[in-house]
Amino acid sequence: MTKTVSHTRSPGMGQIQPSPGEAHGQGKAPREAEPLLVVTDLVQEYATRGAGGVKTGTVHALSGVSFELFPGETLGIVGETGSGKSTLARAIIQVEQPVSGSVEFQGKQMIGMSKKQLRATHAEMQMVYQDPFGSLNPRWKVADVIAEPMLGHTTMSQRERQERVEQLLELVGLDPAIYCQRRPIELSGGQAQRVAIARAVALKPALIICDEAISSLDVLIQAQVLNLFEELRQELDLAYLFIAHDLATVKQISDSVAVMHLGQLAEIGPAEEIYAAPRHPYTRALLDSIPILDIETGEAKRPVPLKGDPPSPLDPPSGCRFRTRCPLAQDICAEVEPRPAEVGDGTGRPHKVACHFPLEPGQMLPDRGARPQAAAAAA
Ligand SMILES: Nc1ncnc2c1ncn2[C@@H]1O[C@H](COP(=O)(O)OP(=O)(O)OP(=O)(O)O)[C@@H](O)[C@H]1O
Ligand code: SF4
Ligand SMILES: [Mg+2]
Repeated sequence: MTKTVSHTRSPGMGQIQPSPGEAHGQGKAPREAEPLLVVTDLVQEYATRGAGGVKTGTVHALSGVSFELFPGETLGIVGETGSGKSTLARAIIQVEQPVSGSVEFQGKQMIGMSKKQLRATHAEMQMVYQDPFGSLNPRWKVADVIAEPMLGHTTMSQRERQERVEQLLELVGLDPAIYCQRRPIELSGGQAQRVAIARAVALKPALIICDEAISSLDVLIQAQVLNLFEELRQELDLAYLFIAHDLATVKQISDSVAVMHLGQLAEIGPAEEIYAAPRHPYTRALLDSIPILDIETGEAKRPVPLKGDPPSPLDPPSGCRFRTRCPLAQDICAEVEPRPAEVGDGTGRPHKVACHFPLEPGQMLPDRGARPQAAAAAA
């Protein structure tokens, strides 16, 4: 069964047309034939400099990251602080040129694009950041903030833009009669993030990259904004790269999940497999660090935090970058860098793990005790 997708993305259109796409069950949406985004071997490095601007070292922020994203899908990207999530987002939208690698979006290579080409591409690829106020001009009214992308990218008349702004505000759950004339300073964090989302979808992009977009919101508002993202995905047929620190945050919204560790993908796979049967020791450790409730016994299971600090990206360990914290490490782990290898049965979304000794489904890390599977999956 093929998902029916409306590609009516002409930015000049005055109406938001709901896509006739099917309801989007987690990890279950059938894939379209062509990927929307293909990231291949992306490498990003930063020089550190001492007194007088002398180079003192190299931060290996991204080291060979590859994945594909299909239209209408959400890839959750998680990892500890400094693992390279924001660097990945910046390299994809080309705010910074990566050192090497390739970013193909809608079949076009983005690396090396002219400013004009990038500007046109950005109409189809928008970012939503952690701090909504940072992306909203404090002096402008909400209506102007949302209308601004339409000015640059469409030939819509002022009246058409106003109508569209009102539709967009309704779409994100804000009453246009109240919010059009407000300024960002008069909004709560959740309201400001809704305005930022309305602005991001104003040109009906194919992809939205959310970098910690709900992290600064209250828990209740986080749930509301997550629901909004999901509704918008179904209504506008959006794809998301949804970046967050932890696996619990992206569970509700992701078809697939990528786990980043020190600039590399440790594991990427269908969300239901990642949560129920992670294959990389680091993913298992991240899941073990989420507090859970055993729904059969009612017993609260204490989280087991991952011991030790992440190694420095200035001097990553040889071989596997997780080896200094991995309870399964053996000699080969220090000598040979594990490359992502398929561990799925090849029938669904890819499930790749970069580990010489991937866990068997259901296998736990040593000295940690079993976690109740049903509850773990619900965490
Ligand atoms: N402009 C820069 N110059 C030097 N180092 C940088 C620069 N930007 C990022 N880094 C380094 O690159 C690494 C990856 O940073 P990045 O911001 O991508 O991590 P992150 O996963 O987004 O972290 P967080 O969860 O804290 O947002 C870090 O070690 C960071 O210090
Ligand atoms: S390659 Fe070795 S050190 Fe790295 S995660 Fe696998 S077992 Fe652990
Ligand atoms: Mg970040």
